[in-house]
Amino acid sequence: MFPYNRKRRLRKNTALRDMVRETHLHPDDFLVPLFVVEGKNVKEEIPSMPQTFRMSLDEIEKEVRSLWSMGLKGVLVFAKVSDVLKDNAGTEALNPQGLMQRAIQTIKNAVPEMVVFSDVALDPYSSFGHDGIVENNKILNDETVEVLAQMAVSHAQAGADVVAPSDMMDGRVLHIREALESNGFQDTCIMSYGAKYASHYYGPFRDALDSAPGFGDKKTYQMDPANRLEAIEEVQLDIEEGADVVMVKPGIAYLDILRDLHNEFNIPLAVYQVSGEYAMLKAAAEKGWLDYEAVMMEQMIAFKRAGASIITTYSAKDAVTLLG
Ligand code: PBG
Repeated sequence: MFPYNRKRRLRKNTALRDMVRETHLHPDDFLVPLFVVEGKNVKEEIPSMPQTFRMSLDEIEKEVRSLWSMGLKGVLVFAKVSDVLKDNAGTEALNPQGLMQRAIQTIKNAVPEMVVFSDVALDPYSSFGHDGIVENNKILNDETVEVLAQMAVSHAQAGADVVAPSDMMDGRVLHIREALESNGFQDTCIMSYGAKYASHYYGPFRDALDSAPGFGDKKTYQMDPANRLEAIEEVQLDIEEGADVVMVKPGIAYLDILRDLHNEFNIPLAVYQVSGEYAMLKAAAEKGWLDYEAVMMEQMIAFKRAGASIITTYSAKDAVTLLG
């Protein structure tokens, strides 16, 4: 009761605030998305994502060495596949010499300790820009899951530590887990995008990979942003099917979901601050309307406070630099 209780006493100065702070960020918290392209000496900035680049394998090699030296320990790899290699079945996704497979090998050769997460989904490989095989304008579930399981095994063979299905097909975690087990990859982790919403925040990412859906939208497989209980159901199933980590995506607009899942489950949670969130911050900062570094760090602490063990963000390098 006032005046005996005065909450401002503990806010008196920096040192005291530091001592009673509940949440701390550390370089170990971050996962860095990487966009890989064919070629040599390619480092092209993505127009809607300032300071984020598509890189050829030689540049990726330099990048991962630099990330490791900064204390960053994980990368999440996305491959930009040329249009001529795209088809409805995602055939190129299974090519042992494909760009993704070579990227995984390149990173593991350059920095063996770096934890390599690989994106498992058909959209970068799909002539329709969808995360599954298409028939009569429908996204087929079970046929797609078969391909995703083979894709995961192919990434594990290339050296991926964690396969990360981002597609939202039903039953894909079980199929991937069984395929990994039966091919001798019992130690390969699965980070499933358990609560992935049909969001409009993914626009700049689809520019980066040229992977926008050619027709319709992704609402028949990604979650309805209005649903909260369904996220618990989705994640429960993924854990039962063998997921080691589950992700919530996007980030800031879905912090309630992250907290619900943290209260409900004991496995590590990841969050993805997606391309549109990053673009919004950068655009406001360019106009001089927001302080990019300060707002970005406030969002990072919010992810951790809400329950994230792994924060996937295009700002990871900036965050670690600011942490000193
Ligand atoms: C698709 C995928 C998407 C992202 C990661 N994997 C886009 C989508 O679902 O259309 C978005 C990431 C971002 O926006 O930063 N498998």
